[in-house]
This record gives sequence, structure tokens and C-alpha cells, in this order.
Amino acid sequence: MTSNSNHSDSHTSVLHETRSFPPSAEFVANTEVNADVFAQLNREAALDLDAFWCKRARDLITWEKPFTKGLDESNAPFFQWFADGTLNVSYNCLDRHLATRADKTALIAELDDGTVEHISYQQLYERVCRLANGLRSLGVQAGDRVVIYMPMVANAVVAMQACARIGAIHSVVFGGFSSKSVAERIIDAEAKVVITSNVGYRGGKTVELKKTVDEALTQTGSLIEHVVVFARDDSQTNMQAGRDIWWHELTAKQEANCQPAWVSAEHPLFILYTSGSTGKPKGVQHSTGGYLLGAVQSYLWTFDSTMDSGTASKHHKANDVFWCTADVGWVTGHSYVAYGPLAAGATQVMFEGIPTYPDASRFWQMIEKHKVTIFYTAPTAIRSLIKLGADLPKRYDLSSLRILGSVGEPINPEAWIWYHDVVGGGRCPIVDTWWQTETGTQMMTPLPGAMACKPGSCAQPLPGLSINIVDETMQTAAPRESGTLVIERPFPSMVRTLWRDPERFKTAYFPEEFGGRYVAGDSAMRDEDGYFWILGRIDDVLNVSGHRLGTMEIESALVANHLVAEAAVVGRPDALTGEAVVAFVILKGARPTGDDAAEMVKVLKAFVAQEIGAIARPAEIRFADGLPKTRSGKIMRRLLRSIARGDAITSDISTLENPAIIQQLQEK
Ligand code: WT7
Repeated sequence: MTSNSNHSDSHTSVLHETRSFPPSAEFVANTEVNADVFAQLNREAALDLDAFWCKRARDLITWEKPFTKGLDESNAPFFQWFADGTLNVSYNCLDRHLATRADKTALIAELDDGTVEHISYQQLYERVCRLANGLRSLGVQAGDRVVIYMPMVANAVVAMQACARIGAIHSVVFGGFSSKSVAERIIDAEAKVVITSNVGYRGGKTVELKKTVDEALTQTGSLIEHVVVFARDDSQTNMQAGRDIWWHELTAKQEANCQPAWVSAEHPLFILYTSGSTGKPKGVQHSTGGYLLGAVQSYLWTFDSTMDSGTASKHHKANDVFWCTADVGWVTGHSYVAYGPLAAGATQVMFEGIPTYPDASRFWQMIEKHKVTIFYTAPTAIRSLIKLGADLPKRYDLSSLRILGSVGEPINPEAWIWYHDVVGGGRCPIVDTWWQTETGTQMMTPLPGAMACKPGSCAQPLPGLSINIVDETMQTAAPRESGTLVIERPFPSMVRTLWRDPERFKTAYFPEEFGGRYVAGDSAMRDEDGYFWILGRIDDVLNVSGHRLGTMEIESALVANHLVAEAAVVGRPDALTGEAVVAFVILKGARPTGDDAAEMVKVLKAFVAQEIGAIARPAEIRFADGLPKTRSGKIMRRLLRSIARGDAITSDISTLENPAIIQQLQEK
């Protein structure tokens, strides 16, 4: 089994957490899923899991051709759901709402500079159709791959929906990734078209997206036939004749209607690259039907919402304003910006900028201005906003809020309590949602009207999900005993395979010793009440500001520098970012000291940012003459983790090949 030593200090405090916050009587009185309904849903799922999901797939999704079968396990672990049904995701997110709520606001899009645009479902539909027709005119067909590299503006969602509409498989690349990362993803997916923007803006700074795409395309041969460029403003960019085309020119003469491509429920909707324990990111492949079901169902459950039937507000929930702050470059932005809320017919806020610009009250200002009722963000954002202005929320009217959410990493109880008291006014449940790029949609969370929240716990699995914690003997771990988090049964929104790498899919998620169970890569424990507490990753994956980074990926980036002989990367706990990247580097030349070392640190940090993207930039780099290795040559990562944290080395290092190295590595 994998080692189990990534636990950071914040987790230790979680293990002593005993506070519990039940929902108010008023919340329970108005909730869609109270404790009884939750128990009933669990009974229904336990009785017949397949029937449970089939019923929801019929209720929540509009099918072109209804499916006749739910789960197909015949080719495990390549599970299929609703495979003989046909549908279109864009139709489900747009067309089906038009008869009853065409004028309802779908997106409230706020730009970095504060400009706001309200886009109705009808307008969004027309934009998507025009782009979809434009893509078809460029020869994009169902099954073709399209890379999307966009700022967090409304047209990022339009681009994703347009691909879905014609059955093209999108691969969204986060706008902070480097040209090299863009190129790798284009090559791996063999993409044909890139959709980008001349520029984007974050915190007043220009992000030169098109320029980065141009650099990437110098490395991708002749794969990319066209680049569609959204003019975010009138900034100039080099347009290569025959290849590059402005979005507005491509769509100007297109019809505002577009026949959706009806595809099988198992047709891939998108691939999204994520870090694993090797140097190469994994192309997580998601389906159409099962994924959409997971996105819309979890949206409704977790955020205590109803499908907006369009009839004159029978319920105040039709007027909810949802805001998920995640970028569409991450899975959270796929499921809870681009798809889930739209499939439910909700109104949502989209924001191009950053929480600290023009100052650390931006989120609170926007919640007040747009009367946000459900706010979903990441612990790292909460921690940085506490640091930069813990009193700022009090200056704004945040009384519209009814639910707060957290995602991406464990939330430390201190941040939880502040979020609850200061942002939520003590009245809003916090849904701490545990899930992964691979699960596609939320797996565990307190259901806000059905159970109490405990700070730092993701509570319980959503109905229909069988999640367990097992010990080394593969038995269910006892209460408070930590073990490996597994998902026992297939579920609709799960990853289908890794793009063109089914072998890695099997070994990464279904290792033999786990007997067909999905292994999430996290360790966890359950308390006496059956609440789950995530303890951290058990593989060589770091979680920095809620973003997943493979240590091997950063190591490969470092050794790509001609001055570097060897590198080892580990994480250490960080009060702001959760974990921080620490790199131990052996140069080809002499070990640098003093100013030379400081200069080298700068060079290598910039190099990693250029190779992968700024998010992977190490917080700290230390130089030595060698790495601590066992006699068989294995790098002792556990030791490096202790050194990175500044812990005293108490373990026996006499078996080390080169014990003297330890002291060097400990010097800062
Ligand atoms: C890993 C998945 C979930 C979408 C964004 C990140 C960690 C995620 C929580 C949470 C504790 C969490 C896990 C997981 N994680 N949410 N609520 N509590 N840990 O997706 O990049 O695929 O990362 O993030 O370690 O395995 P991702």
C-alpha cells in the first residue's frame, strides 16, 4: 500500500473538533431534503441502486431517445450508464428552459473592471447556437477535440456549451497554465481547434492568452487547423491568416438556432487533465448522460434547490442567485458553472477577476450587489480574505445568503468558523463538498437541511453513493481509525477512462488488491456519528490552494533545466495555501551558497512557472550535494517531508546511503 504521511498540521486539529451546527428550524422547514427525506433516499438507493439512478435520470434529464438500461458492468471497471439513451447536454441546459423562462437571467457576468452583463437563457442559447454553427462551418464534428483556453468570462461557458451542442469533446485548459502545458494537452488529445481570447484580466493585470496559444502552436505541428479568438477588448494580437479567426466574424452570419447533435449517453462530453503520481497529467474522460445527471442532481441536493419549473415563482428558490467562484479550467467550474446550474435553470454569477482586487472586499461587494443566495468557494480564498480583512464582510449587506459552500481541500476549523459567523451571519449551513476531477460531481457533503455541519468534516455521502474507508487488510476501518477512502459501487458521473490510456486508468483507480473498488487517493477517517473527515492524499499529489499538483510533474519540470542534475519535490503545510511546494535540488555544478543560491532560486522558480504555470512555482528551493536515498537508490520522501516542515529527524537514518546530506538539506 501507499505511504500515509502527507497529513498536515491542520488535520490534527480537525481530529479534536467536536462542535456541531444543526440547521435552523426555519431552514429545515423550507428545505427540499430534510432528515426524513434523506433517510428515505438512502433506503431507496440501498434497495435497488440501479432503479434509484434510472428514476433520477428520467426525472432530471430530457432524452431524445430514452435509455432502456442503467448500469452496465459487463466491462468493469469501464462502467457504462444509460448507454442506449441519446441526449444533448446543451439542449438540457438551454433549449428546454426556453418555453417557460427564456427571459430569466442565466448568467450575471462581472468582469475584472466591474462591468456587469446580464445574459438571459434566450440570449445564452443564441450565442451558443451561433458559435456551434460557426464551429461546424470550420469542419468540427462530433467526437473532434477542441481546446478551450479562456478567461472567466461568459463566453468561456458559451464555448463549452457550443462544443457540447455539436458533440465535440472539449478540453478546457486553465488560463494560468503555460504554453508548454497548452501544447502538451493539444498533442495528447489531438485537438483540431483552439478557442481562446485575445486577452483576459485578473486583478488589473493583462493575461495574454492568445500569445500563449501562439507559442504553444509552435510545438504542436499541424494538429490545430483553426484558432477562434474572442475579442475580450480591442487589444491587438497577431492573427495568422487562414488559421486564426475572430469569434465575432465567425459567428456574425450564423443562425441563432442550431440543431443539437444527439449523442449516446456514453459519448465523451469532455476531457480534463489533472495531475497524478507520474510526470504526465491524466486526461480524465467524462461521459454525457451520467455526468449530466451527477451535475444536476448534486447541484439540487447540495444547494437545496429545485428545478425551476418556470411557473411564477411557486417557491423562493426559483429566485436563487448561485455563485461558484471556481474557474472553468477546473472541474468545479465545469460541474457548478458550465453545466449543473444551467441544467437546473438557475441564475448564477460568473466573475473574471480575483477576490483581492481592487481590495479584499470584492467578494462581499459582489454578494451584496447581485444578492447572491448560495456562495461556493475554496478554503484558500477564505483564508487569504481573513488575512487581508477579517472585518470587511461586516461592511456589506450579506443577508441574501442562505447557503455557503467549500471545495477543493479540507477547510480548517478556524476558517470554517469565520466563514460561518462573519460571512454567513451564523445562519447559513456550510456545505463542505468532497469530490474529485475523477468523480465529476460532488460525492460527500453535509446536506444543509438534513444534518448538522461539523467544522472540517465533509459529513456523509450523497444518496446513491457507497463510500467506505478500509484498513490495510481491506476491512472497514473502525471509527476514528484512518484508512484509504474507496467508492464501493459505480455511480453515473464517474470518470470513464483516461484519454487513450485505459491501462493507466485501471492501475491508477482500480488497483487489484482493492477488489474492484475505486480508490480515490485520499486517506480519511469516520467518527462515531458516521461523519467523514478527509486527512489528505496518500499518493505523490499535492494540494496547493485547492489545486492538484503532482510532485513528479514539478520534478520533471526542474530537471528539464540544463543546470539541474536531480530534484525531489514534497509538500509542507502552509497556513494560506494548505500545502506549499518545497523542492530539493541538486545542481550539475557546485552547490550554490549566499547570493548565488538566492539567484538560482529565482531562476528555477521562474523556470517552473514557465514550464507548468504559476500555480506550480515552488515556495521554497533548497540545494544540496545529493538527496537522501536508501541503499537501493530510492529517494526517502518521508524524510524530505520532515525536513521541509522543519521537524527534528527522529527516525533512524543509519540505513541511508549518505547520512551527511541531511544536515545540508536542513540548512535554509
Ligand atoms: C482532491 C481532488 C473537488 C473539486 C476540486 C478539486 C481534495 C477536494 C475536498 C474537501 C477535503 C478535499 C481531495 C481530493 N479535496 N475537496 N471538501 N475536503 N479534501 O479537485 O483537483 O481533482 O482534487 O482534492 O484530496 O482527492 P481535484
